[in-house]
Amino acid sequence: MRRSDLDTVSELAMLANPFATKEKYREHLLDELEENPDLSFVGAKNGKVIGYVQVEVHNDQAVLEDIAVAKEYQRKGIGKRLLNKELKALKRKGAGTILAEVHYKCAPAIPFYYKHNFRIIGFVQDYFGVGHDTIILKLLLQ
Ligand SMILES: CC(C)(COP(=O)(O)OP(=O)(O)OC[C@H]1O[C@@H](n2cnc3c(N)ncnc32)[C@H](O)[C@@H]1OP(=O)(O)O)[C@@H](O)C(=O)NCCC(=O)NCCS
Repeated sequence: MRRSDLDTVSELAMLANPFATKEKYREHLLDELEENPDLSFVGAKNGKVIGYVQVEVHNDQAVLEDIAVAKEYQRKGIGKRLLNKELKALKRKGAGTILAEVHYKCAPAIPFYYKHNFRIIGFVQDYFGVGHDTIILKLLLQ
C-alpha cells in the first residue's frame, strides 16, 4: 500500500467499519501504514485498487483491523489472496497469533475467516463505540 492509495482505501474501509467516517478513518489508515508499511497490502486490477488488508502488531500478537474488497469484486478469491499475503508477512515477522475484529454488521464475513481456520473467541460490547459490538476471532500462526 502507498500513501497515494489512501483515497480509494478509505472508501473501501467503510465496508469493514460501519461505525467510522471516511475522513477520520483515513488518518488512522495512514498512521498504521507509516507504522507498519510492510504489513499493509492492496489488491489492484488494471491499476485500480479494489481491495486492501491492514494489521497492527503488539509484541507477537497481530490484530487484523481491516480487510475489504470492493463489492463488485467479492467472492472472486481476492480476499483470500490478501489474507494469505498478510499471514505470510506476519509469520516472517514472528507473530504468534492474529486476532480479527468484526463489527456485528460485518458478520457475513465470519465464514470467510472460518475458511482460513480462525475461530470465534468472544465478543466485546461497545468495542467501537456505544452499540458497536464486535466479534473477536483468533488464529494461531506458529
Ligand atoms: C470478507 C471479504 C474481505 C472476503 O473477500 P472476498 O474476496 O469476497 O473473499 P474470497 O472470494 O477470497 O472468499 C474465500 C472464501 O471465503 C468464504 N466467504 C467469503 N465471503 C463469504 C460470505 N459473504 N459468505 C460466506 N462465505 C464467504 C467462502 O468460502 C469463499 O470461498 P468460495 O467463494 O469459493 O465459496 C469481503 O467479503 C468484504 O470485503 N466484505 C466487506 C468488508 C468486511 O466485512 N470485512 C471483514 C471485517 S474486517
